[in-house]
Amino acid sequence: MKEISAFELNENICTAIGKDWTLVTAGNKESYNTMTASWGSMGIMWNKPVLFTFIRPQRYTYEFIERNDYYTVSVYPDEYRMSLKLCGTKSGRDIDKAKETGLTPVFDEKAPYFSQARLVFVCRKMYAQDLNEESIIDGSINANYHGDDFHRMYVSEIVKVLVND
Ligand SMILES: Cc1cc2nc3c(=O)[nH]c(=O)nc-3n(C[C@H](O)[C@H](O)[C@H](O)COP(=O)(O)O)c2cc1C
Repeated sequence: MKEISAFELNENICTAIGKDWTLVTAGNKESYNTMTASWGSMGIMWNKPVLFTFIRPQRYTYEFIERNDYYTVSVYPDEYRMSLKLCGTKSGRDIDKAKETGLTPVFDEKAPYFSQARLVFVCRKMYAQDLNEESIIDGSINANYHGDDFHRMYVSEIVKVLVND
């Protein structure tokens, strides 16, 4: 893969995250997990390029993100749609997602990703905050929550962008 700067990225990020979906992956060679995420955003905070990632505490992946300083957010070609569906409906507590999907983990960065990715963001956690009911302005958001499942928002520096050339 080729490394580019976040400013060189030529991609509609709403489409990449919201329509193509992403895999959020954290851990190391000994133990890691991945899950599908279609919420998030990219931008600038504290003068750095950042990704915002939203993870509910019930996810197994949450434990890996909490334990590690880095995680990846990766985007895949259309042909891996079924793999992303599986990673978004089954838990790594119950299955080996790499084995079930055939995705190949790569451990050459500070967090794992999969060799089939067409785009990888290597992210370093800078800030985390749990969403909460008191902060909701638009009541329609409440429909997404059932008490104890508010997402944790991570604002993470994009330390590397890798694209498949
Ligand atoms: C298309 C799609 C998008 C999803 N986006 C998110 C998300 O942004 N945040 C989140 O916490 N869960 C999201 N999920 C749910 C997790 O991917 C799902 O609960 C997964 O099974 C968690 O796996 P884990 O327990 O191995 O971490 C999404 C699921 C799908 C299918």
